[in-house]
Amino acid sequence: MKRILVTGACGQIGSELVKSLRQKYGPENVVATDIKKPSAFLKATDGFHYLDVLDADELARLVVEEDIDTIFHMAAILSAVGEQHPQMAYRINMEGLMHVLEVARQKGVRQVIAPSSIAVFGPDAPKENTPDDTPLNPTTMYGVTKVAGEKLMQYYYLKYRLDTRSVRFPGIISSETAPGGGTTDFAVDLYVHAVHHQPYTAYIDAHTPLPFMYMPDAIKAIVQLAEADDSCLTRRVYNVHAMRLTPAEIVASIQRYIPSFECYYEPDHRQQIAESWPHSIDDRNARRDWNWRPDYDLDGMTRDMIEKLSQSIQ
Ligand code: SER
Repeated sequence: MKRILVTGACGQIGSELVKSLRQKYGPENVVATDIKKPSAFLKATDGFHYLDVLDADELARLVVEEDIDTIFHMAAILSAVGEQHPQMAYRINMEGLMHVLEVARQKGVRQVIAPSSIAVFGPDAPKENTPDDTPLNPTTMYGVTKVAGEKLMQYYYLKYRLDTRSVRFPGIISSETAPGGGTTDFAVDLYVHAVHHQPYTAYIDAHTPLPFMYMPDAIKAIVQLAEADDSCLTRRVYNVHAMRLTPAEIVASIQRYIPSFECYYEPDHRQQIAESWPHSIDDRNARRDWNWRPDYDLDGMTRDMIEKLSQSIQ
């Protein structure tokens, strides 16, 4: 039985990942950690610990005391906040990952899974069907830390045979925990405003395409990769893709369910970040090696998002 530690467990992905891992491996085998105050769900469990990923000693103590063999390292600063505080983003994203890898190596952790992002790509990468292997010249600090993070994880795999694995996530749309500090957060805001019957002003231009994925598919991807037989893997970092969407397309989908919803567009500094990223991603390696397939398309996601968000505000 696995003994798992999750960093960033109160974040957008971490919170749903903990739920899913606890269902799979038993609540007692999944230790959730974060520097944020835990949600009511996490608070109600005794498997929550305060942990700053910059505190390597505390991380080591938890790994030893809890007999951890697998770490999902989800704590990170995202792209938009990263551009406001690049030095802080570098520190948290790079030192945090280095601590996780070092503690893993020193304390005999078997596997480390940490997400990467489409932000590893810069303006010189192909915009459509961006392949796994292409120039990685990001123009954001977040992207810089994700490229370096991928390389660091590959280094630990090659040098120390630590089983490191990563997926490059697109923008993730979800209903449970709000995202924080990303360029793609507007997609979640659209749904939240729509169910509250409020208009929304998007900070990304109506016709800017970006790659997106619904949260259940994101959780499926990262758990499936973690569980894949090592002999099937031909690389440590994989592109994963689900939908190529513009803000206008998401709005049109919402309007099929909530026709009165209105969206206005006032692009800000985040527009430049969005324009530096791909429109769609080639994920054929993930599909071939570990059978990756998303379940949700745009309207399937919209139906589910509106249902879940409506329930949560009742
Ligand atoms: N959702 C992230 C961001 O916008 C991309 O990985 O920063």
